[in-house]
Amino acid sequence: MARLRKGIPTGRRARPRQVPRLRFGFRGSLPGLRWSDGGGLAAGTIPETDRVAIETAAIKRAPSVRLAAVTDWAAWHTPYDDPDSALSHRLRAVRAEVASGLDRASEGPVRLLSLCAGRGLDVLPLLSVHARGPDVRGRLIELDARNVEVSRSLAPDGIEVPRADAGSTDTYIDAVPADLLLLCGIFGNISDEDVARTAGAVPQLCAPGATVVWTRSTHAPDLTPAVRKWFAEAGVVETAFVTEGAGGWAVGAGTFHGQPQPLVPGCRLFTFTRRPPA
Ligand SMILES: C[S@@+](CC[C@H](N)C(=O)[O-])C[C@H]1O[C@@H](n2cnc3c(N)ncnc32)[C@H](O)[C@@H]1O
Repeated sequence: MARLRKGIPTGRRARPRQVPRLRFGFRGSLPGLRWSDGGGLAAGTIPETDRVAIETAAIKRAPSVRLAAVTDWAAWHTPYDDPDSALSHRLRAVRAEVASGLDRASEGPVRLLSLCAGRGLDVLPLLSVHARGPDVRGRLIELDARNVEVSRSLAPDGIEVPRADAGSTDTYIDAVPADLLLLCGIFGNISDEDVARTAGAVPQLCAPGATVVWTRSTHAPDLTPAVRKWFAEAGVVETAFVTEGAGGWAVGAGTFHGQPQPLVPGCRLFTFTRRPPA
């Protein structure tokens, strides 16, 4: 993790006060992240200091421009190739909680719902090795076609991977109530209000006793205390909260013991604040 943080300090010093702070899901520059002032430069291909200089110049050129974060969600997965990356450390923590959820699951089919599933790496590889893997059925919802393709290639029978907008409750129809709900890599990319709304929707998404696994970085201002409270208010009893340390990733998990509610279709739980490349 120390390695990932290295790129940040020079950027901070070089940036004037009025420049909006970059908000990454993780501290440090991840491949595929890029910032757009209309030009669309790929940050993954330029040094951090140059990127900050470019960003600063863009602000000076057009002070009113609100920079929109553009993320290549396929390239975002690249750090998973390095077992020592912070993202791989987080992945292992997530998998451990997913495995615990499968250990706890009642006999019979285990219904899985993963929102913004990416390549499904947090759960699909587990299914072939965990004793309950053959019982798992469900849906991984993902918008990026390249990630969908990878997930589909890894998914066993009974797991569907629609290319769809996971922010809309319409995409959960027939996939809830879930026994295992994964909300990983979402909460750093949506507004705090959307995080609260999504946590508050757990009673619509989960069966009694279901396991919920979520992630959020702890970079300041650390939202994880609020996230834990929102899940608790939704009836999720925390079973784990693992962090890499201040400013690093956090993985939370819990079991749902609240009052289940019927799914309300046609609702928007969240909208990503980063947009994919044009
Ligand atoms: C930070 S990545 C997390 C991927 C995966 N859950 C993980 O933790 O490895 C966010 C993922 O959400 C996807 N995504 C973004 N907006 C989405 C939406 N509205 N509906 C479904 N997926 C979305 C992106 O394509 C990307 O794969």
